[in-house]
Amino acid sequence: MDSELRKAGVTGVGSYVPEKVVTNYDLEDIVDTSDEWIRSRTGIEERRIAKEDATTSDLAYKAAESALNDADLSPEELDLILVATVTPDMMFPSTGCLLQDRLGATNAAAFDLEAGCSGFVYSISVATQFVRTGAYDNVLVIGAETLSKIINWEDRNTCVLFGDGAGAAVVQPVESGGVLSTVLGADGSGGELLKMPAGGSKRPASLETVKENLHYIHMEGNSVFKFAVRAMGKGAMKALEKADLEKKDVDFLIPHQANIRIIDGAAKRLNLDNDDVFVNLDKYGNTSAASIPIALAEAAEAGRINSGDNVVIVGFGAGLTWAASVIEWS
Ligand code: ACO
Repeated sequence: MDSELRKAGVTGVGSYVPEKVVTNYDLEDIVDTSDEWIRSRTGIEERRIAKEDATTSDLAYKAAESALNDADLSPEELDLILVATVTPDMMFPSTGCLLQDRLGATNAAAFDLEAGCSGFVYSISVATQFVRTGAYDNVLVIGAETLSKIINWEDRNTCVLFGDGAGAAVVQPVESGGVLSTVLGADGSGGELLKMPAGGSKRPASLETVKENLHYIHMEGNSVFKFAVRAMGKGAMKALEKADLEKKDVDFLIPHQANIRIIDGAAKRLNLDNDDVFVNLDKYGNTSAASIPIALAEAAEAGRINSGDNVVIVGFGAGLTWAASVIEWS
């Protein structure tokens, strides 16, 4: 990266998950599935589900408070709030603006970024550009989802996979290390594989769209799986290359938590042992844009990442998209 630019790093992290636990056994009562199927095909054992009246910004707020606390930063000091989500509180205003108001971040600009489960890594990339160029000093990046609100609880192909939660990170200038590289990718030709078909300009909400279940997640799991395995490996390798690093330089991997078989594939590609890979998929399922920041916050809190470690974060998602970054933890 250009040496005249500043360095940007992650200076605080936080996360929040709703209290309600829904186990695979609970799902056996709802759809034709089994704990054995879900566990062996995905690695998921349970997930958290938000209360009926809880919004994505409610979850985001709690994660944001925790990350600001960790970075010892007040909301008034924020220059920008970026919320990565596919489940905004509403089409507009943005969840970022709702959060800006609730936090009292009166000096911050705010917007949402939609890149499916890659949204948090995309947002880290955006935040890094603002900080490195000197445009902004204090950026709050959040991945937050209430996927339970767009799940068809009668569709066993999707309802067993997802959960709710939020994770946040503060990005600021740092003296050394920090975000060493970010790489972003998209393949819009795969958009049909993972989508919420109605509610936008193509199929505005109507009685028909509701009757046809078009306001729910529709996914061709197997095709997304194949894309994910390729994208995770490719993404991580490109991010390393851009940071002038090799596989042997990676200390810790924080992959998007969608499926243990996809995670194992990425770890193998990087020659990493299980101890060097963070997995909390068993507890939370796939929380889309929230999955990497929740994992990052939990890994930091558990002391699994230490100052000077090269941490790779990598994800894939709707779009289709993929994204990866190497962060030298400080
Ligand atoms: N319980 C029992 N059986 C099931 C269930 C279930 N919950 N779901 C599907 N099945 C059945 C299918 O109907 C199929 O039966 P059939 O052979 O009689 O038709 C069989 O299991 C096998 O289905 P596959 O789709 O081939 O199973 P696969 O091994 O691919 O696993 C899975 C499915 C877990 C969805 C996998 O493909 C996957 O993880 N894909 C990636 C999905 C993903 O990560 N999506 C998130 C993207 S991120 C974002 O932006 C939101």
